[in-house]
Amino acid sequence: MDFRERYGPYALIAGASVGLGEAFARRLAGRGLNLILIARRPDALERLAKDLRTRYAIEVRTLAADLSRPDLREVVEHAVDGLTVGLLVYNAAHSVIGPFVDHSLDEHLRVLEVNCRGPLVLAHLLGKAMAERGCGGIVLMTSMAGSQGGPWLATYAASKAFNLVLAEGLWDELGERGVDVVACRAGATRTPGYAASQPRPSRVPLLEADRVAAVALDALGRKPSVVPGAFYRFSAFVMNRLLPRRVAVRIMGRATRRLYAGRDGSPKS
Ligand SMILES: NC(=O)c1ccc[n+]([C@@H]2O[C@H](COP(=O)([O-])OP(=O)(O)OC[C@H]3O[C@@H](n4cnc5c(N)ncnc54)[C@H](OP(=O)(O)O)[C@@H]3O)[C@@H](O)[C@H]2O)c1
Repeated sequence: MDFRERYGPYALIAGASVGLGEAFARRLAGRGLNLILIARRPDALERLAKDLRTRYAIEVRTLAADLSRPDLREVVEHAVDGLTVGLLVYNAAHSVIGPFVDHSLDEHLRVLEVNCRGPLVLAHLLGKAMAERGCGGIVLMTSMAGSQGGPWLATYAASKAFNLVLAEGLWDELGERGVDVVACRAGATRTPGYAASQPRPSRVPLLEADRVAAVALDALGRKPSVVPGAFYRFSAFVMNRLLPRRVAVRIMGRATRRLYAGRDGSPKS
């Protein structure tokens, strides 16, 4: 079975207008899949959709919606009615950076809605149909931050751990029913979202979004999770296999504070 037969004819990308979501859209369009793109800003979505239709002669549908909306399942079910969605990429995320108690509880809960409830709802909705057909794929975007506690990123890191562990479980369970599932554990990647977080300059290499998307898609059907980039694969080995967990947590905390602290040691506003 070729890629389009296995994961087509439609792919749905949640969080699709810029950054890694756009990179997934371009890669999948290049492989001939029709696309359903979801993000909040309709203008950015439409711009991308128009470009993809012209370049690749595929069908591209857009859905301007916030993935945290309570009726997400119904809205997406309606949008995909009558279509065979063979691939789900859940890419959107919300992050909260800085001391845990300095952010409102509502902000932390929003992280759970976008990063955990969203992928759960869509993996259940679309994964069920894929399992019934005996064919399909699911990519959940997670992060190096999801492999241990993340000081100043505690809720975001925990939400990414949820995606990693959810994908691993589904990799085995849905794999038996013909559905390939993979978690992509990305390191720092050049995207509008990363730039908007305003990190200080650092020597850590930045990954390119197109490369990360390519590695994630290539890993479908091969393994439960993948780490793009040799530097991050080595880091993951050291952090998660060699070091005691408490040391890995402290290293994450130091690295995050270095990236995001103001010069007086306080979080940037
Ligand atoms: N960039 C990195 O360094 C990095 C590192 C590790 C892991 N990751 C993971 O990679 C994924 C993508 O990151 P990115 O840097 O590409 O993000 P990004 O540049 O901020 O793009 C996020 C995309 O998702 C959409 N989106 C965000 N919140 C949404 C919501 N509530 N409802 C619907 N759409 C939403 C955005 O469009 P709208 O704003 O129009 O909604 C945009 O298209 C995330 O899961 C992130 O955790 C990124």
